[in-house]
This record gives sequence, C-alpha cells and structure tokens, in this order.
Amino acid sequence: MTTPVEAPRESARNSGVSAQRSMQQEVLAGLLTTRKRLNPKYFYDSVGARLFERITTLNAYYPTRTELAILRDAAGEIADLAGPRVALIEYGSGAGTKVRLLLDALDNPVAYVPIDIAGEQLRQVALALRDDYPTVAIHPVRADYTRALDLPKMEGESRHVAFFPGSTIGNFEPSAAASFLRGVRDTVGDDGAMILGIDRVKDVDTLEAAYNDPEGVTARFNLNLLTRINRELNASFMLDRFTHRAWWNSSESRIEMHLESQITQEVEVAGRQVRFDAGETIWTESSYKYDRPMLDALVRNAGFTVVCLWTDPGERFWVAFLDAT
Ligand code: AVJ
Repeated sequence: MTTPVEAPRESARNSGVSAQRSMQQEVLAGLLTTRKRLNPKYFYDSVGARLFERITTLNAYYPTRTELAILRDAAGEIADLAGPRVALIEYGSGAGTKVRLLLDALDNPVAYVPIDIAGEQLRQVALALRDDYPTVAIHPVRADYTRALDLPKMEGESRHVAFFPGSTIGNFEPSAAASFLRGVRDTVGDDGAMILGIDRVKDVDTLEAAYNDPEGVTARFNLNLLTRINRELNASFMLDRFTHRAWWNSSESRIEMHLESQITQEVEVAGRQVRFDAGETIWTESSYKYDRPMLDALVRNAGFTVVCLWTDPGERFWVAFLDAT
C-alpha cells in the first residue's frame, strides 16, 4: 500500500506567476547586456532535468559516478559523524539517487527535505522515497534554493544535516558560493552539519571532455535552454544557428559553457529584439573546480569546519563532512 504524498510545498517566495515574470525579467536583462548571459538554473525544465540525468551516465562525465563511489565507501563513516535521528535537507535533490546511500547508512534518520526547482521530478522522487523509507518523514519543497526559504516543521530530529552533492556549488560565482554556504549554516544552526560534494581541479583534457561528450548530450542540454525560452517567453531562437561551446578557464578555475551565434542575427524575446554578432556567445554556465586552499577558504568563511574529506583513487572529486563552528 502506498501513502499519498502531499504535493510539493511551493515556497511562497517562488510561486507560479511571479516566478514566470522574474524569469522573463532575468532572461531579458541577461540578453540585453553586452556580455550576454543566462542563469543555469533555467536549464532544468522537465526536458532539461531528463537530459541532465543522461549526462550523469555518460562515460566522459566523471563527477556523478565518482561521487557515488566515494559516498558508497564513506557512508558508514558519514553516518557515524552525523549521529542518530538527523533531519537531512538536500539542496537540489534531482533524481534522488545519492540520498538513498545516506538514508540506508544513517542511524534512524527522522526526516528528509528534498528541495528542487523541477517540480514534476520532485513529486516522483518524494513518492518513491516514501514507499522505500516508510519511517522517514518526506517533506518535498519546490523552490529555488539560491533564495532564502523556510523549512517545513519537523519533529524529533537531533540536528539538521544539509546535503549538497554533485558539485552544484560549482555553478555559483565564488562570492555567491560563500553567501549560499552562510545561508545553509544559518538554516542548520549551531549543532548543524553539512555533507558537500565538490569537483576538484584536474588536467584540462579530463575537464573539457566532461563538457564536450561525443554523444552530444551536453550540447542538447545547453541548447534546450533556448527551446525553453522560445516556449515560455515567446522567443524565436533558431536552434541550428547556435553552437554549444565549453572550455576550461584556468585563471578563473572554471569550465565555461556558452552558446555561440553562427551568424549575425536578431531574435525576438518577450517582445524585445536581441541582436547577435557572428561568433558572439551567451554564457550559460560556469562550473568552478576547487583546490584545497579554495575549499578551506569557502568553508571557513561560511562558519563551517572540515571534519573529514574523502576522495577517489584518481583524486577527481571530494566529499566533505562539515560541522558548524
Ligand atoms: C549540476 C552544476 C554540477 O557543472 O557539471 C553538467 C551541470 N552542465 N554538464 C556541472 C552540467 C553541463 C553540472 N552541475
């Protein structure tokens, strides 16, 4: 028998119509400046969420399977550090695969709060988890977790443990990463902890291959942003007039993903004309990669301390257990 799952809570700060309007404002602002750019959070409509899941299975895309292997090996130690009866809060729960490793290992976890912007996927994940973990209270929250949000009321938890895997922190500019982590520190409180997955700096070939897969899934993921804008903001992007580009920017320690205009062209977006020169790009994503000094600075400034740090044999990825200081 299955228990019905409440519909995901819509964070009051990010509900329907106003979310649509803020997307329009943000997209237009990004396209009407000299250095055109779009926020990567808009990748994740339902098609984009599915394309991202395919990316995670690609041979060239090492982060997901590397992090899963680390989590599998470290799950017991993580559970010891977390302690009994925690409430686990996941920022960007996606397909909900990784959290199962934690829920299986943790000592009697009392609640799980998956937060995600992709509503349909969130509902399905919540349904499946409620079936498989009947003793854990599942409280899905549909929200843009980069903004302040209120946690649902929970009962009986010993402490709050945030879970932010996947190196999603890499999407944030350094200053935004710092303020996001400070926000998490506020949410989990003085007894709180955080389990953070973070991609490491490594050789440029491995890094660039991960964002230029021969199957072209990353290219479709990138271009789907234009499909979404066409549909939701009444735009006229022609997909064959833009090309996926991704490269390592070593001085900024980040992969940059762009969409490059093949020709000089004008595109209509929400009633406005947007002009492109041939070769001009829209910067759609940054994926920052960390070394140890960068990680330490980030964590310390946010009011956390690194209690334990696990990596894989190839030293490609880190999982960190952080305690509030
Ligand atoms: C989900 C932000 C971690 O940066 O590697 C994958 C997104 N973009 N391929 C990443 C992504 C292109 C991914 N993150």
